[in-house]
Formats: sequence, C-alpha cells, structure tokens
Amino acid sequence: MIIETRGLGKRFGSVLALRDVSMGVAAGEVTCVLGDNGAGKSTLIKILSGMHRHDTGSYLVDGREVRFSSPREALDRGIATVYQDLAMIPLMSVWRNFFLGSEPRKGLAFDVARARRVAREELAAMGIDIRDVDQPVGTLSGGERQSVAIARAVHFGARVLVLDEPTSALGVKQAGVVLRYIARARDRGLGVVFITHNPHHAYPVGDRFLLLNRGSPLGLYARDDITPQELTRLMAGGAELDELAHELRRE
Ligand SMILES: Nc1ncnc2c1ncn2[C@@H]1O[C@H](COP(=O)(O)OP(=O)(O)OP(=O)(O)O)[C@@H](O)[C@H]1O
Ligand SMILES: [Mg+2]
Repeated sequence: MIIETRGLGKRFGSVLALRDVSMGVAAGEVTCVLGDNGAGKSTLIKILSGMHRHDTGSYLVDGREVRFSSPREALDRGIATVYQDLAMIPLMSVWRNFFLGSEPRKGLAFDVARARRVAREELAAMGIDIRDVDQPVGTLSGGERQSVAIARAVHFGARVLVLDEPTSALGVKQAGVVLRYIARARDRGLGVVFITHNPHHAYPVGDRFLLLNRGSPLGLYARDDITPQELTRLMAGGAELDELAHELRRE
C-alpha cells in the first residue's frame, strides 16, 4: 500500500463526519469510495490530501504515520488531488493551465515553446486527443478538462491520484473518457482513489470498493467478492428504495 488509513475518524463540532474508516491504495490499483450525499467521501479525501486533519485513527504513507498540515505537504509525498471544481482558468490556454504555478523557465523568462511541447506530449502519452493546446481550457468539455487535470498530476510526479467525483456531472460518453484515463493512470503504476456516487462508473475500473454510509464504513470489498448487482443494491440502499417505491405507488 502507498497510502493507508486505520480507524480514521473526523468530527466537525457535533457532526461525526467519519468514523472508523480503514482503507488503502496500492500502486497500479484503483480504490473506489462510494456513498450517498453526506456520507463523508469528501471529508475522507480532504484528509488524504492534507486539507483536513483527522481526530482519531491513523494515516500512513509508505507505511509511516503522517499528519499533513497542508495540501502542499501531501503533494510533496506524491499525493495529488483533482477536485470537481478544477483549479483551472477558463480563458487561459490548455498548455498554460497545464503548467499553472509550475512554469518551466529559460533563464528568467517563461519557456513557452517548451511548455507547449511538453503539454502536447504528456496529453498524447495519456492518449488525450486535444486538437490544439492553444485553445482556452474553458472551451473543452468537462471530460476533457478532467483528463487534462489527470495528465497534469501524472506529469508532475503523482504516485497517488485522488479524484473527487470526476464523472458525476458527465454524460455516459464523457464519463467513459475519464474512466479510460483512470485506467491509463493505473496502468502507469499510480494508485488511484476514485470517489463516486455511481456504482456503474466504479465497477469497471475498481479493484477495491469502500462503501460509506453517514460517515461509517458499510464494507470494503475486493472486486472478486462483490458483483455489480450487489454493489448497486448496497449503494442504492436497496431496502430504502423498495420502501420508497411502495410509498410512491398510486392508491
Ligand atoms: N467543514 C465542515 N464543517 C462542518 N461540517 C462539515 C464540514 N465538511 C463536511 N461536513 C459534514 O460532514 C458530513 C460529511 O460531508 P462530506 O462532504 O464528506 O460528504 P460527501 O460524501 O462528500 O457528500 P456529497 O456526495 O454530497 O459530496 C456532512 O454531514 C457534512 O455536513
Ligand atoms: Mg463530496
């Protein structure tokens, strides 16, 4: 395991956002975190990415306990997080966004030619087909933007990629595009933590599935131990849905 949590807990005032969460991700594997709204998914990834500190339990990187005090510290250990509202500037070109904050320099000047070339090469290496790296990021589709963010994290040396609901706002086709890049990052040896509501997005790429319900783990399953039907049913809160269907039926 590159990262691992043991009995992790986090409280916000009187709200117990996470309780006793144990999970991990290994190189070349995808761990999916599933759960309904408010289940604690974002809280968990904010702890992994150094934005929040846990109250109980432990968080280990390369087998050693850590307590990050900022996202920068997590990034320095190779843990890169791609948020839903990506930190990109819509009117700036793809290549500028690719290097945002880490521009290559030639002496004192920004090495534009190199930035363009590297951005183009890195996107191509991930199989991302952007017609023109000079086009503003705002003109890309949601799926393409997520893909650029993933390629950027890979280029800057991420070992673990943490993705908060990268496919939730996307249609079937674009979600497929992002899932392909998740698989590509995995094949390049990264560990991926993939947060989603959608078992249909999780199942095809996931090696492990952590289900959260109101902050508590409902289970951690290896892919061989659960069928897509079971995963969907657990996620949907099968019994609750049956009850709702009953309630909504016409008299
Ligand atoms: N900064 C905060 N201050 C107070 N309460 C918080 C804070 N962040 C999260 N919470 C609470 O913790 C619980 C878990 O929230 P979290 O955002 O982790 O859920 P989530 O699974 O990501 O939900 P969603 O699917 O809606 O994104 C919620 O009850 C939420 O209101
Ligand atoms: Mg969330």
